[in-house]
Amino acid sequence: MQIYDEECQQVGRAERRIDVGATAIDKGGYRHFMAKEIAQQPSVIADVLNHYVKGDRIVLPDGLDFREVDRLSLVGCGTAHYAGHVAKYWFEALAGLPCDIDVASEFRYREPPLSPQSWFIAISQSGETADTLAALHYARDHVSRTVGLVNVGTSAIARDSDIALPTLAGIEVSVASSKAFTCQLTVLAILALKAAHDRGRIGDAELAGHLAELRAVPGLLQQTLDLSDHCRALSEWLSQAQDVLYLGRGALFPVAMEGALKLKELSYIHAEGYASGELKHGPIALIDRDVPVIVLAPYDHLFEKTISNMQEVMARHGQILLLSDHEGIAAANDGVYATLTMPGGGNLFQPILYAIPMQYLAYHTAVAKGTDVDQPRNLAKSVTVE
Ligand code: F6R
Repeated sequence: MQIYDEECQQVGRAERRIDVGATAIDKGGYRHFMAKEIAQQPSVIADVLNHYVKGDRIVLPDGLDFREVDRLSLVGCGTAHYAGHVAKYWFEALAGLPCDIDVASEFRYREPPLSPQSWFIAISQSGETADTLAALHYARDHVSRTVGLVNVGTSAIARDSDIALPTLAGIEVSVASSKAFTCQLTVLAILALKAAHDRGRIGDAELAGHLAELRAVPGLLQQTLDLSDHCRALSEWLSQAQDVLYLGRGALFPVAMEGALKLKELSYIHAEGYASGELKHGPIALIDRDVPVIVLAPYDHLFEKTISNMQEVMARHGQILLLSDHEGIAAANDGVYATLTMPGGGNLFQPILYAIPMQYLAYHTAVAKGTDVDQPRNLAKSVTVE
C-alpha cells in the first residue's frame, strides 16, 4: 500500500502492528457473532470500569475538568446517537450541565452556534463514520475541547479529537451494535458522574455511592442475559408482526428507540421507539391487536406515568410486553400479553440493563425469521460515505 497527500506526494507512515487475538474473530461456540457479543457485555463493561474507576476515584486523561465547561454537544449516528441521548439525561440530572444531542448528519450542515466554553463529544464505535467525523471537524473550530468516544483507538475520530476515550468493547464484528452501545453508555455514565462531582453537585460520599451502583452493573447484566430464552419464546409472536412500538420515558426513551432500531435492522420488521407521553399525539392511532407494544418501565418516579400510557394502549386492544422489575411487574401486569422481569429497581443506570432484552428480542426475532443476523441486508459496519 502506498499513501499520498493532497498534492499527490507519496508520504511515509510508521507501521503499527494491531494485536488481534484469535478469540476476537471467531464465534466462540455461538451461532452468530451477535450472540457472542451480547453475552460478552458483563465482562467488557467490567473492563471499562476497571479502566476508568480506581476505588472511589474516576481516572480520566488530563483536560477533562467539567468546571470549565458551560454546555455539551453530543453527536453520533444510529446506536451511538442513542447512547448520547441517554447521556443527556445523566449530564443534565446529575451535573446540571446543559446538553444538546444531535445526529451527526444534521449537526454538520446546520452550522449550530456553539459556545466557546462548550465541549463537543463525538460518539462512534468505528471512529470512521463520515458524518460524525465531519461534525467533529466543524466543532473543533468553535468549542474549547473535543472528545472522541471511540471503540477503535486507531480511527480518524480518535486521531482528530483533542482527547480520545476508548470504549473498550473489543472488536465488534456483527453489523448491529450491541456491546459497543453498552460500553459507550458506561463511559458516558462515568463522565456524567465526573461532571457532577467536578461541579459540586455531588460530594465524595455520593460519588462513591453511584460508583458502587455502576460496579454492580456487570453482575446485574449477567442476570439479564438469562432473559435470552424468554426473549426467544417471545420472538415467535414478534416475528408475525408488521409493526412494533417501543415506549419508554426519561433515559429509557432512547433505549426504546434503540430497541426499535435493532428490530428494524435485524428482522426487517417496521418498529418505532416513542416517548410514552407522546403516544396520544399520534402513534396511538396505529394501535390494534396486531401491533405489539413493548413498554420499558422500571419501578421509579416515572413508573405510574408510563403505566397509564400502557393502559391507554390496552384499552385499544394493543398487546403489551411489559419490561419492569419485580415491584413494577407485581403492580401492573394485569391484562398484559407478557412480561420480562428485570433486575433491580430505580437505579440510575437502568438504561444499560434494559439494552440487553432490546438486543435479544431483535436477535431472536431475526433468527425466527431467518434473516442474516450478522450481516443484515443493505447495511455496512462502518459508514464512511454520506
Ligand atoms: C446499529 C448500528 C448503527 C451504528 C451507526 C454509527 O446497530 O450499528 O446505527 O451505530 O452506523 O456507527 P459508529 O458508531 O461506528 O459511528
